[in-house]
Amino acid sequence: MRACIAGTGSYVPERVLTNADLERMVATSDAWIVERTGIRERRIAAPGEAASDLGAKAAERALAAAGIAAADLDLILVATCTGDSPLPSTACMIQHRLGARRAAACDLSAACCGFVYALGVGDAYIRTGSRHVLVVGTEVMSMLTDWTDRNTCVLFGDGAGAAVLSPSEGDRGMLSSHLHADGTLWDLICVPGGGSRLPPSEKLLAEGQQHIKMKGNETFKVAVKTLEEAAREALAANNLTVEDLDLYVPHQANIRIIKAVVTRLGLPMEKVVLNMDRYGNTSAASIPLALDEAVRGGRVKAGNLVMLEAFGAGLTWASAVIRW
Ligand code: UT7
Repeated sequence: MRACIAGTGSYVPERVLTNADLERMVATSDAWIVERTGIRERRIAAPGEAASDLGAKAAERALAAAGIAAADLDLILVATCTGDSPLPSTACMIQHRLGARRAAACDLSAACCGFVYALGVGDAYIRTGSRHVLVVGTEVMSMLTDWTDRNTCVLFGDGAGAAVLSPSEGDRGMLSSHLHADGTLWDLICVPGGGSRLPPSEKLLAEGQQHIKMKGNETFKVAVKTLEEAAREALAANNLTVEDLDLYVPHQANIRIIKAVVTRLGLPMEKVVLNMDRYGNTSAASIPLALDEAVRGGRVKAGNLVMLEAFGAGLTWASAVIRW
C-alpha cells in the first residue's frame, strides 16, 4: 500500500515585496532580477509571524481538501530551515494548533529539498501501516536574508505548502521517491552562524554570520546537472519516458535553471509549473506551494503523471513521481 496525496493546501503572508521595492534597498534593477531569476515579487512574513503560523494555515487547507480530521493524523513532518525556535520542533507547534493529538510530530532538515524528502519519509510510513501523514513545507526565509546583499536578498520569499498523505487506492499514488545528498558541497549554500558551531553572539551578529550565503554561480551549474540526472533516474526506475509526464513541479529557485533542465530532458514548458514570479524561492515551501496552485487551478487531473524535483543546500536533491 503506497501513499497518495489526498489533499493539498498553501498559505502566503500578505505583505508583497516587489523588485521595485528592492531597487530602493540595494544596487539592483527589476530588469536584472526578472532576466536572471524570473522573480518579480515575493511575500514577507509580518513581524512575529513564524513558520508554524504559515504552516498551520497551509495544513488546515490541506486537511479540508482531503476531508480528513486533524485528530486522524498519525504523523506530522515539517520541512523547514527557519523553524519557530531551536526547541521544540515547528511540527509540535503545528500539531498543537491543529489539535492533532494522536500524531507524532517532528521537523526534517533538508533545506529546499525538505518537502520532497518528507514526502519520501511519509510514503514509507504509509507503506508500513500509518493511515494519514501530514507533510508541511514552511519557511520564513526573510529572517535569514541579508537585506544589504544584492546577491541573495532578491531571491528568497516566505510561504508554506502542505499535503495530506493517505493509503492509495488502485495504481494511484507515490510511484517512487529518490533522495540524494553530497555533503562535500555543503559550503555552496549555508548559514554559518546561529547553531552549535557558531552560537549566537554579538560578534556573530556584527559579522552577519546569521545570514544565508550562497555561491550562486557554482550552485546553478550543479543544480542543472543533478536535476537532469535525477529526473532520468526517476523515469528509468518506473519504466517511464519523458513523454509520459503530464506535469513537472520543480523547486522554484530560478527560471533559467528550470529552462535548462527541461530543455535537456526534452520536456515542453507547457508541462512545467512556475510561480517564482510571484513568490521567489521559498525553500521547502516552494514545491508544495506550486503543487497546490496547480491542483486548485485544475492543472492536475486524476490519472496524470506528476514529477516533483528539488535541489538545495546540503547539497541535497530529490524527486518524487506520483500517479495522481
Ligand atoms: O534554492 C537553493 C538553490 N539555489 C539556487 O539554485 C540558486 C542558483 N543560482 C542562481 O540562481 C544564480 O546564480 C543567481 C540568480 C544567484 C545569480 O545569477 P548569475 O547569472 O549566476 O549571476 P552571477 O552571480 O554570475 O553575477 C553576475 C553579475 C555580477 O556582476 P559582475 O561581477 O559581472 O560585475 C554580480 O555582482 O551580476 C551581479 N549581480 C547583480 N546585479 C544586479 C548579482 N546580483 C545582482 C542583483 N542585481 N541582484
